[in-house]
Amino acid sequence: MKILRCRDYEEMSRVAAQSIVEGIKDKADLVLGLATGKTPLGLYRLLVEAYQRGEVDFSRVTTFNLDEYYPLAPTHPRSFRSFMDKHLFSQVNIRRERTHLPNGAALDPAREAERYERAIFAAGGIDLQVLGIGRNGHIGFNEPGTALGSLTQKIQLHPESVAASRADFDSETEVPRYAISMGIRTIMLSRRILLLASGADKAAILARALQGPVGSQVPASVLQLHPDLTVVVDEPAGRVLFSEAQSVWDEVVAAKDL
Ligand code: PGA
Repeated sequence: MKILRCRDYEEMSRVAAQSIVEGIKDKADLVLGLATGKTPLGLYRLLVEAYQRGEVDFSRVTTFNLDEYYPLAPTHPRSFRSFMDKHLFSQVNIRRERTHLPNGAALDPAREAERYERAIFAAGGIDLQVLGIGRNGHIGFNEPGTALGSLTQKIQLHPESVAASRADFDSETEVPRYAISMGIRTIMLSRRILLLASGADKAAILARALQGPVGSQVPASVLQLHPDLTVVVDEPAGRVLFSEAQSVWDEVVAAKDL
């Protein structure tokens, strides 16, 4: 595990964008795993800017997002498909047919989950997966208690996740109670993982995930076992981690020194 210690959100976003731009330079047909939420917004803005400057070409890139609300039409303004179209896909030269999210309008969510898992496999697996971490330790929508060996499946959202999504919807009753999410095993099969964490409200769970026991109660804890994990963390999110870990880990690198 490599930890890149960043001053703030902007630096975290810049380090993550750099890593993805380099990944695409090394492999033009990169299979990229993407996340939604507040955390990667700066990253997507910087990727769009890099594209506008001619520094990155998305024409051969394939993407798979972690999850989508269920049931929710892809055309719904709050769907993760709409989020990705708005913040990234519509602003770069990625081919739409190479951008994938679970279909939140599928009639049979179990079949849709299986189709999604197969599509990832058929694309050769994910080269580089971007992750955020939920305040309850979820990755994707793999809520506490999800089996560590899970593949893509329909998941019931934890009340904390419903509460976190509330602001995006007009009323509480409109917030979907389910999602189709890549499983924990699906995520762990990615060749490289970039975990982003920003803000003081992530400090406690990030330390638990990276230093506590590995188990399904904190799904992100399984990332400790991934052979190629880079954690990009800003000072507020790293507060607990850095106060306890600095002497233990020699992999903590200040991003400004990169
Ligand atoms: P956030 O969500 O980026 O909006 O904090 C992260 C997550 O729930 O995985």
